[in-house]
Amino acid sequence: MSNPSLLILPGDGIGPEVMTEVRKIIDWYGTKRDLAFDVSEDLVGGAAYDKHGTPLHDDTMAKAQEVDAVLLGAVGGPKYDVLDFSVKPERGLLRLRKEMDLYANLRPAQCFDALADFSSLKKNVVAGLDIMIIRELTSGVYFGEPRGIIKEGNERVGINTQRYTESEIERVARSGFEMARKRGNKLCSMEKANVMESGVLWREVVQRIGDTEYPDVELSHMYADAGAMQLTRWPKQFDVIVTDNLFGDLLSDLAAMLTGSLGMLPSASLGAPMANGRPKALYEPVHGSAPDIAGQGKANPIACILSFAMALRYSFDQGDEATRLEQAVEKVLADGYRTADLLGEEGRSPVSTSEMGDAVVAALDASLS
Ligand code: IPM
Ligand code: MG
Repeated sequence: MSNPSLLILPGDGIGPEVMTEVRKIIDWYGTKRDLAFDVSEDLVGGAAYDKHGTPLHDDTMAKAQEVDAVLLGAVGGPKYDVLDFSVKPERGLLRLRKEMDLYANLRPAQCFDALADFSSLKKNVVAGLDIMIIRELTSGVYFGEPRGIIKEGNERVGINTQRYTESEIERVARSGFEMARKRGNKLCSMEKANVMESGVLWREVVQRIGDTEYPDVELSHMYADAGAMQLTRWPKQFDVIVTDNLFGDLLSDLAAMLTGSLGMLPSASLGAPMANGRPKALYEPVHGSAPDIAGQGKANPIACILSFAMALRYSFDQGDEATRLEQAVEKVLADGYRTADLLGEEGRSPVSTSEMGDAVVAALDASLS
């Protein structure tokens, strides 16, 4: 049997340097665990624009459709702000999500013990926090038509459309319920049914899927604004949250920051099962391209490393190896390794991006003895 295939798209800003560290981890699995991957690498975002004049070349898109999983670094940067909307780096990422139909975006927000002091919230509010946000990723206001900037009389109007079909809500609701069953069996669905028809439909459909297919899962509903408030007040009340594309974008950034470690959080974007039964999948850190620190060896590679751990779990049926990698990361943090983003006012000197990657590899080695 051939090796599982992995397409790596480092992208822009700190993307390439954090991906270099992930390559060390991937190599480690090949040599030490007999788990070799066929890795190919390509361009996305501004890097692709610079070479091809488009943030995602058709050949790269085709490759992404064929591989077992895609691992992406980050896209975007100030250099590209002036570009036309249609070729901005972000469009490359959005095209991947849309054309691979990656409708379920899993964004865990987990507070690492070693970093609980780092949150902007009190330690007791966040210590041990472990929630999973499932964000709908291929529809809603991000993609709804009509959209654009049009002329109306003598002024311009900016238009975007929030739009959800029943089947789009159904499938992401099922992702939420399935995830809840694997965790604490609690699902909270968030929308704005008090002001938006799409929210009314969302709530109805999620409730119906719950009643008919997942009566064992404890389901609740919350308006997304109240959800944001509750997430900051007492986040541990939540287990799995399912929400739409835009609310999920906001709420997942909020949840990430609660953990005090935006540089630590991975994500998985999953679609329908392929012929081999595994979902189409793209994995990426939640953080962005951080152009202000790019190329200086300051970036924290852990979010991207943990994104590879998610790939091990969800695309390659290697749950135990995923846990091994997550525990290696926890050990490195417990041992005091800190990149600059994790240091605050402590006055210690940070480790570099590559030192952090090496430390994780050493912790993986230690896990074997
Ligand atoms: C995210 C990002 C993206 C989004 C951008 C880069 C298009 O903020 O993945 O959360 O808005 O979805
Ligand atoms: Mg975002």
